[in-house]
Amino acid sequence: MKYIIAIIQPDRMDDVLERLTQKEIHLVTVSNVMGRGRQKGVAEVYRSHKEAGSLLKKVKLEIAVNEAFVPAAVEAITAGGRTGQIGDGKIFILDLGECIRIRTGEVGSVAIG
Ligand SMILES: Nc1ncnc2c1ncn2[C@@H]1O[C@H](COP(=O)(O)OP(=O)(O)OP(=O)(O)O)[C@@H](O)[C@H]1O
Ligand SMILES: [Mg+2]
Repeated sequence: MKYIIAIIQPDRMDDVLERLTQKEIHLVTVSNVMGRGRQKGVAEVYRSHKEAGSLLKKVKLEIAVNEAFVPAAVEAITAGGRTGQIGDGKIFILDLGECIRIRTGEVGSVAIG
């Protein structure tokens, strides 16, 4: 199991979610976050509203998936998130130790989706 964390531009979220849905990836956590990349928020202000100091508004997606879904998730996020401009975002992929559905007590791959 893997835990995918993606930071994307807020205006790309609808497209990314649509592409994830097309690939049968439905379960997702979405947060409004602030962040900065290697331009330290400076050169990118023309794209995003500057929130506080050097921080810009971003959207964070978190998706827990079985290993087989990782390529599809990465494709959906890159295809929906890429404009070619600085600040398009980043995808982090972590090993996921366990997943437990609280309602049923199911664990592991069955509990993920
Ligand atoms: N190494 C990192 N650690 C934590 N968060 C990061 C990291 N790199 C990027 N982020 C998050 O992703 C957001 C978007 O990053 P961004 O796309 O600007 O990365 P970048 O490395 O500067 O690439 P680019 O040159 O394409 O802009 C940042 O605002 C931050 O929230
Ligand atoms: Mg950047």
